[in-house]
Amino acid sequence: MNDFYNKDLISIKDYNRDQFEKIFEYTEKIMNMDPTKRREICKGKTLSYLFYEPSTRTRLSFESAIASIGGNSLGISDISSSSAQKGESLADTVKIMSIYSDVLVLRHPLDGSSRFASEISSKPVINAGSGTEEHPTQAIQDLFTIKKEKKKIDGLKIGIIGDLKYGRTVYSLLSGLGNYDVEVHLISPESLRIRSDSIYEIRKKLSFTESTDLEEHIEDLDVIYVTRIQKERFPDEEEYLKVKGSYVIGLDLLQKMKDDSIILHPLPRLDEISTDIDNTKNAKYFQQAEYGKHTRAALLGLTLNENGF
Ligand code: CP
Repeated sequence: MNDFYNKDLISIKDYNRDQFEKIFEYTEKIMNMDPTKRREICKGKTLSYLFYEPSTRTRLSFESAIASIGGNSLGISDISSSSAQKGESLADTVKIMSIYSDVLVLRHPLDGSSRFASEISSKPVINAGSGTEEHPTQAIQDLFTIKKEKKKIDGLKIGIIGDLKYGRTVYSLLSGLGNYDVEVHLISPESLRIRSDSIYEIRKKLSFTESTDLEEHIEDLDVIYVTRIQKERFPDEEEYLKVKGSYVIGLDLLQKMKDDSIILHPLPRLDEISTDIDNTKNAKYFQQAEYGKHTRAALLGLTLNENGF
């Protein structure tokens, strides 16, 4: 039986390097497969999605992924159109969705929401973003992008820039990177440093520096991972306005980067990467979004087929 079969995917911390490599191997397999054969992988299987927060990439890449491997999808993308609006609980909604499908994808504003849902659902639950805590399928996509574009992960110097306090992709990515031999530099405004309650655990597996100065390491970085300042998670808009626009990657900064460095972003982007960068060879964030479809298809194929595919 493969490690992912019929299992929830709640936290990246539950996975090790061998398991990431297995997903990467299957992602490559999916990308190179004949489409007719690929559509046999999840033929007749249904994915349901339940999004209590907005999404473009995660929800649509899951829908696109399941379709590409022959399955179908149904779900709630606008919670105001569901019976949650009449007061139905998350628990009851999850119970119903798991009756109608083979796997459930959940995004919810509360930390712990996916873990909670997995205890109720009769089908595997995939965390598509839980509060400020985790976004594990984004981290799988990010690691795959780094490996695909740089041909390795070990030995790289990686800068993670922006909102490190509220950006859930950062926590999943750091936990994932803890399985590799990398040098990490965290760059953020002072008020958006990585949360102190997470530092201890991350430091057990990964060494990193912290700085407010974007230019301090820029010439050495192989990967520049930029994040959006998460306005919606600030308790006070005044605090957001103080850090809004803190870092902008533009052509001036690109001149200082290594010629073969890559720029990633989980997206959506606001103003933290200038659109002038989009057509440069270093910009890989749209490619990263495309890989997200393939990594999710591989993950769904492994979750729904006992012996892989
Ligand atoms: N990266 C990401 O989670 O994007 P969406 O919010 O559009 O799903």
